[in-house]
Amino acid sequence: MEKELAVIKILRQNANSSESSYEEYKVPFKKSKNVLQVLLDIYDYKDRSLAFRRNRCNRGMCGSCIMVINGKVRRACITKMMKEMIIEPAKQYECIKDLVTNFYTVNSLKNNEK
Ligand code: FES
Repeated sequence: MEKELAVIKILRQNANSSESSYEEYKVPFKKSKNVLQVLLDIYDYKDRSLAFRRNRCNRGMCGSCIMVINGKVRRACITKMMKEMIIEPAKQYECIKDLVTNFYTVNSLKNNEK
């Protein structure tokens, strides 16, 4: 039996560049997985250059895995995998690389200071 695949689009970017683009990954769909586990699978099996935060609470408590998933700000460790996902860094923070943001820099505050 053929495995059902999920299509994951991740916004890839680097703080040193103004360029960004979506990279698409196809991974086996498993509804019991959370988004953080999906990112770990992509990192382990498809793309070692993908940057995201991990090794935190994994219980929805610390907020280190906050990102935008299908247009909504969510915690990746407690958000279930979906068959189609667009994953972007949390927009209120400055992007360091891919899904890693600088929690000490809030974009809206920075803009207000100018
Ligand atoms: S890892 Fe702590 S909230 Fe997701």
